[in-house]
Amino acid sequence: MATFSFFASLLISIFLVHLCLYHGVESVDDQLISTHREALEIIIGGGGVNSPPAPPPEYEECPPPPPPPCPPSPSPSPPTPPPSLPPSPPPSPPPSPPTPPPSLPPSPPPLPPSPPPSPPPLPPSPPPLPPPKRKSPPRPPPKRKSRPPPTPPAPYPFESQRIELAYHVFQNFRPLITSDPKHIAKSWQGPHVCKYKGVVCAMHPTYKQKAVAGLDINGALFGGDNAKLPLDGFLDKLEDLAFFHANSNNFTGSVPKDVSKLKFFYELDLSNNKLIGGFPNEVLAATNLTFLDLRFNYFAGSVTPEVFKLDVDVLFLNNNNFNQKIPDNLGSSPAHYFTFANNKFTGPIPRSIGQACKTLYEVLFLGNKLTGCLPYEIGYLNQATVFDVSSNLLTGPIPHSFSCLAKIEYLNLASNRFYGPVPEQVCTLSNLGNFSLANNYFTEVGPECRKLMKKKLLDVRQNCILGEPNQKTKAQCNAFFSKPRKCPNEKEMTYVPCKRYLRSNEKKPEHQKQASAPLSYGSLVRHRL
Ligand SMILES: *[C@@H]1O[C@H](CO)[C@@H](O)[C@H](O)[C@H]1NC(C)=O
Ligand SMILES: *[C@@H]1O[C@H](CO)[C@@H](O)[C@H](O)[C@H]1NC(C)=O
Ligand SMILES: *[C@@H]1O[C@H](CO)[C@@H](O)[C@H](O)[C@H]1NC(C)=O
Repeated sequence: MATFSFFASLLISIFLVHLCLYHGVESVDDQLISTHREALEIIIGGGGVNSPPAPPPEYEECPPPPPPPCPPSPSPSPPTPPPSLPPSPPPSPPPSPPTPPPSLPPSPPPLPPSPPPSPPPLPPSPPPLPPPKRKSPPRPPPKRKSRPPPTPPAPYPFESQRIELAYHVFQNFRPLITSDPKHIAKSWQGPHVCKYKGVVCAMHPTYKQKAVAGLDINGALFGGDNAKLPLDGFLDKLEDLAFFHANSNNFTGSVPKDVSKLKFFYELDLSNNKLIGGFPNEVLAATNLTFLDLRFNYFAGSVTPEVFKLDVDVLFLNNNNFNQKIPDNLGSSPAHYFTFANNKFTGPIPRSIGQACKTLYEVLFLGNKLTGCLPYEIGYLNQATVFDVSSNLLTGPIPHSFSCLAKIEYLNLASNRFYGPVPEQVCTLSNLGNFSLANNYFTEVGPECRKLMKKKLLDVRQNCILGEPNQKTKAQCNAFFSKPRKCPNEKEMTYVPCKRYLRSNEKKPEHQKQASAPLSYGSLVRHRL
C-alpha cells in the first residue's frame, strides 16, 4: 500500500515534469512521435526526463554510409502510417490517467479525466433512487395477484446501454474473485458502474453515450478459486475498453483471443500476474495497442517476430522465461522503451537494432544469456539515453561506433566477457553520467576515461587494467587471454558512423552530473511504476 502510493506519486511527478519537458523538446525532430504518441509518453513518463541539456555537436542523421544502416525505413513505422488512434477522437480517457493514484482503493472513483466535458449521456437521466441491490437489474416487478395497478415500469437504472452491457460483464466476473483484500470488487455492485472502484467511464465516440473506457485494478491483488482467475470473459467482453491496467493480481491462463476486437484498446498492462504459456499472440491482432506490459509473468519460449511490427511505444517483456533468440527484426519496432531484462534470451543482439535510431530511447537487455559481439549498428541509436547489456555472456571489444551515442546517459556493459582497450571517444560523450564496465576483461583506459573514473561516473572494477586497484587476478586474465578471441565483425569494430570525432582542437565537452534514474529501470520492480 505504501509502495503503491509512493509509485503513484512518483508517476504523477514524472507526468508533470514530462508535460513541460515534452513540449519543450518536441520541436527537435519528432512530430511523428509527438502527435499520436504523446498520450503514451505521458503514462510512462517519456524519454529522458533529464533530456539533453546540451546535445552533442555535429551528428549526422541516422547515417547513410556503408552497410544498410538506418536507411530502408526513413519513417519509423513503415507499413502503417499513423493510422492508430488519431483520426476519431478515441474514447479517450486521455491516456488513462497515469494510473490514477486515487481511483484505486480508498476513495470511490473520482471519475477521472473523462475528457470531454461529457454532457450527460443519452436519454434517461439516472433515476434518483438506485434500485435496491439485487443480483440482476431490477426487472420483473414482483408478481402480484390480479389487477395490478399497471406498475409503472421501473425507471431505467443505467446511465446508458453500453453501461448496462458492462454491468453484466462485471456481475459475471465478480463471483470468480475469491480474494479481494482491498475490497475493490466489493464495490462492483449496483447499476452505477461508473462509480465502481477502478472503472473509468467516458463518452463513446460512436454511440455517443457513456461507456466503460478503462479499468485500473493495479495492485488489487485479486485471486481466484483454485488459483484460477481467467481474463477470458472479462477483459474481452468489456468492449469499449481503451485501457486495462491489472498490475499485481493473480490472473492466470492466457490473453483472450478477442482482445483484437476491442476497437479502442491501446494499453494493456498485465504485469506481475501468473500468466503462462508462450508469447500471447492474441495481442498481435490488437492493432491499436500502443502500450504492452507483460513483465513479471511466466511467459516462456520465443517472442514472435510479429511483436516488433506492433505499433507500440512501450514493450515491457522483462522478468519472464523467454529463452530463445531475440528476433532479427528487432529494429523494425517503433517502440521507445524495450525491456528484455531478466529472461533467458540467447544469441546476439540483432544488427537491425540500428534501424530504431529515430525512436529508441531506452533498452534493457540485462540479465539474459546473450552471446556474441556487439554489432556496430548500436552506434546509430542517437536518441538512446539508456543502453544496458549487463550480466550476459557477450564478448568482443566496445565498437568505436559507441562514440556516436549522442544522448546516452546510462551505458552498462558490466559482467560480460568484453575485452580490449576502452575507446577514448566513448568516454567523451557529453551526457554520459553512469558508465559501467565492471567485471569484464578490459585492458586499457586512456586519459579521457580516467577523468570519468575520477568523477566516479565510470566503473572499471574487476577488469584486467594494469595498475588499477580492484582488478581481476593475473591468473584470471591470463586464462582468458590465452585463448584466441576474435569477433566475426572485427573490421566493423572501428567504424564510426557519425561525424563527431575528436579533432585535435575540439572543445572537450564538460561532463555534467550523474545520470538521473532512467525510467525503464522502474520496470524491473514488480509493482507498478
Ligand atoms: C495474489 O498475488 C499476490 C502477489 O501479487 C499475493 O500476495 C496474494 O496472496 C495472491 N492472492 C491469491 C489469492 O493468490
Ligand atoms: C483502431 O482504431 C480505429 C479508430 O479508432 C478503428 O476504426 C479501428 O477499427 C481500430 N482497430 C481495431 C483492430 O479495432
Ligand atoms: C549507476 O547506476 C547503478 C545502478 O545501475 C548505481 O548502483 C550506481 O550508483 C550509479 N552510479 C552513479 C555514479 O550514479
